[in-house]
Amino acid sequence: MKIVLLGAPGAGKGTQAQKLVEDFGVAHISTGDLLRAAVKAQSKLGVEAKGYMDAGKLVPDRLVIDLVKERLDQDDAKRGFILDGFPRNTAQAEVLDRELDAMGISLDAALLVDVAPEVIINRLSSRRTCRSCGYTAGAGVDVCPRCGGEMYQRDDDKPETIKKRLDTYREQTEPLVDYYGKKGLLKKVDGDRPVDDVYADVKVLLGL
Ligand code: AP5
Repeated sequence: MKIVLLGAPGAGKGTQAQKLVEDFGVAHISTGDLLRAAVKAQSKLGVEAKGYMDAGKLVPDRLVIDLVKERLDQDDAKRGFILDGFPRNTAQAEVLDRELDAMGISLDAALLVDVAPEVIINRLSSRRTCRSCGYTAGAGVDVCPRCGGEMYQRDDDKPETIKKRLDTYREQTEPLVDYYGKKGLLKKVDGDRPVDDVYADVKVLLGL
């Protein structure tokens, strides 16, 4: 399984990725998680990335691309991977194409989790995320069911930032739906249904 997950912020990319990882043991490569880990560690990259993330903007390509290349080189990614949150614009998609070409790998699919913006604002305002492992759930879950870590509200899950993230998605990321459509790789799932119903369709679409 070598797939890219597309979809607006809060569409449920991470939620579906978690289920695929549990069932199929592939590597979950989430640039959002990698960036949040860098922010937490207060590394040079993390300090630079934080301002962009808090403003709902994309972190510059030069900071993100190397993170993804390093992660794709790790052993677990050789068995398959789910790229969640990358690529985020056409320039990143072109770099990914070149990188995978050089590795002799091709993508199986780009899966769009499709959800309307008004649904997304509600979902993200009530989302809680695990500080330790990045697991996500709705409001009211205080302890992570996966690792026992503390659940918190992400800084960018505040209403003003959510609106900016949606604008950034429309302007920079949505064109990738066409990009992968033209390559014949696009698959689309209606993400505005219960998580397990979405997941059942995801497995059918991916031939699993
Ligand atoms: P990132 O972490 O990638 O955030 P995002 O794309 O905005 O996506 P989210 O994690 O918010 O949403 P999701 O689709 O995974 O939804 P989830 O499954 O959690 O990026 C954060 C920031 O980092 C960016 O803004 C940017 O600054 C930077 N960044 C990251 N990658 C970058 C890149 N490549 N280039 C440049 N900058 C980059 O679900 C959301 C909520 O809904 C949860 O509470 C969940 O429980 C619930 N839910 C999920 N599915 C359902 C369902 N079917 N029904 C009901 N509720 C559901």
